[in-house]
Amino acid sequence: MKRITLAWALTLCSFITFIACSSPDVGERSVSIIPAPAQMTVGEGTFTIHPGIEIGYADESLKGMGELLSNEIEKLSGIKLASASDKESNCIIFLELTDPKEFADLPKAYGLSPKDSVPVDESYSLSIQKRNIYIKATTLEGIYRGITTLKQIVGGNLQPGGEKIYLPLLEVKDAPRFAWRGLSFDVSRCFFDPEEVKQVIDMVALYKMNVLHMHLSDNQGWRIEIKKYPELTQIGSKRKETVIGHNSGTYDGKEYGGFYTQDQIRDVINYAAERHITIIPEIDMPGHQLAALATYPELGCTGGPYDVWGQWGVADDVICAGNEKSTQFLEDVLSEVIDLFPSEYIHVGGDECPKVRWEKCPKCQARIKAEGIKGDKKHSAEEYLQSYVISRMEKFVESKGRHIIGWDEILEGGLAPRATVMNWRDTSEGIKAARQHHDVIMAPNAFLYFDYIQGDRAQEPLAIGWGYNPTERVYVYEPVPEQLAPEHRPYIIGVEAPLWTEHIDTYRKAEYMLFPRLMALSEIAWSVPEVKDLKNFKEERLPVHLAWLDTTGIIYRVPEPIGMERDTLYGAEFTVSLKVPVEGGKIYYNFEGQPARETDYLYEKPFRIIVPEGQKRELKAITVAPSGKRSITATTIFIHQKSK
Ligand code: ACM
Ligand code: ZN
Repeated sequence: MKRITLAWALTLCSFITFIACSSPDVGERSVSIIPAPAQMTVGEGTFTIHPGIEIGYADESLKGMGELLSNEIEKLSGIKLASASDKESNCIIFLELTDPKEFADLPKAYGLSPKDSVPVDESYSLSIQKRNIYIKATTLEGIYRGITTLKQIVGGNLQPGGEKIYLPLLEVKDAPRFAWRGLSFDVSRCFFDPEEVKQVIDMVALYKMNVLHMHLSDNQGWRIEIKKYPELTQIGSKRKETVIGHNSGTYDGKEYGGFYTQDQIRDVINYAAERHITIIPEIDMPGHQLAALATYPELGCTGGPYDVWGQWGVADDVICAGNEKSTQFLEDVLSEVIDLFPSEYIHVGGDECPKVRWEKCPKCQARIKAEGIKGDKKHSAEEYLQSYVISRMEKFVESKGRHIIGWDEILEGGLAPRATVMNWRDTSEGIKAARQHHDVIMAPNAFLYFDYIQGDRAQEPLAIGWGYNPTERVYVYEPVPEQLAPEHRPYIIGVEAPLWTEHIDTYRKAEYMLFPRLMALSEIAWSVPEVKDLKNFKEERLPVHLAWLDTTGIIYRVPEPIGMERDTLYGAEFTVSLKVPVEGGKIYYNFEGQPARETDYLYEKPFRIIVPEGQKRELKAITVAPSGKRSITATTIFIHQKSK
């Protein structure tokens, strides 16, 4: 066996294909792992998975992992494996906790800021040998990450109706780049039931992410049962109706609602924990609180009445910062949230809080006076009042042994040292926070907002009104800003992509917005830059993953044909060379100016286009996946231009 770098993977694929031609027994074996592992060595030959082979574990604490692996393989392939308990039996797949020294040569992860507790060691090794498979790690988390790699290799090598799965011989040694690898899911604007949340957790886990952040309250709905305030879910979880499109002024006339009981929340937390995912709860404050204000108008500056909003955007009505009752309410809510969620971090929002009500509110102004808050050149007194609210919440959360995270507005007006900043606006905010020695999670909208559109707006489902973050843009995002001095870089503890759901009113649409961008996110979160490679990701590995997704019923965005990325090309003669972005799919194209469809030409090999002087040609092409799912039509215009 020899060690390969990822840059070799392309060569390797064609090599394996070559073997496939000469040895029909072996077939083409896929080694498409996302996120790309730190080290990988591929050998010749195969390991065969067949019914009844035993999964063994040296340590009783791995029993659950053995069962989980067996269930996962059965779900994927229909093949039932057996669980055993010690090495003496006939075990074929073996799980083992091992010494950290085995991983000493792996790159060290970021996310070890000086004040951080040492993150859990998620390193693992996976060895697929001719007769055995070994997954080793120093922790259960590491074993689980290794299982997901094995699961991906199984998923990439399924044979329809097969009783056996042939896997490539392989040595993987791997560890995450970042300690925080998150997806944020807005369940307030649109509600997703616990089973749907679990489906998201499955995918987050498969791609080695470790955080699902749930945005549980906003102007448009309160989604978590709070025992002390039962009206929050009786009143605050429902809106009368929902605006159509981008705040068109026309409403759908249908009541909308939904919330999680505390039992449901516990069930989701446990489901995630089994997959080594932490659920981070967010109660956004003091803005984004109309659902609570509609329930308890006395918590606002004007006393209401307020409605749970049926439109989108930022509301001027926010929690009154001068009313002790409001502070008590926030602390009571956080208290129950802290009791429910075992996470080290509690997200308190802090974004987009207009100050217009506070400027006029006698209670807020009295608070400003009583606390001796004064405006200055940098911030108004009301902006410092926001800092006062967040600081009080931080003290409360810290008193319960947890830490706060807030959106980057919490930097304005000063911030307590333990607070972690989630950078959603310009990355200069994250830089500022890291320079002030705050831990930072990078979630910049310009790269990582999954509510932004992924392609031609006219053909895509309705999305938020600005921003364009196709998979490639997510993939090329580098979370550690190069402007940061080396001593500040460790404060960047990871990345997160938010899926805001203003226009995502079905779970199928949420899937469409998530996949394949989640795969790109996982690679920036887990893989060191040395093994990242956009071409290899997009043209070699992602097509295998999408082909597998294509068989599952999960909705994903079928990418346009690879090679159709450029809108306009100038010249007289062109060679059109396209690639199918979903393994087993097809490309169809026309020059008629109509959206492409299956009745058009089937792309089989590169072809030439000659454009006479004064003319242009318009190529339109689509991908059709094996299931029949289609991409949007991609267009490239070839305009005649004499060569110089
Ligand atoms: C945000 O998008 N307001 C965090
Ligand atoms: Zn007020």
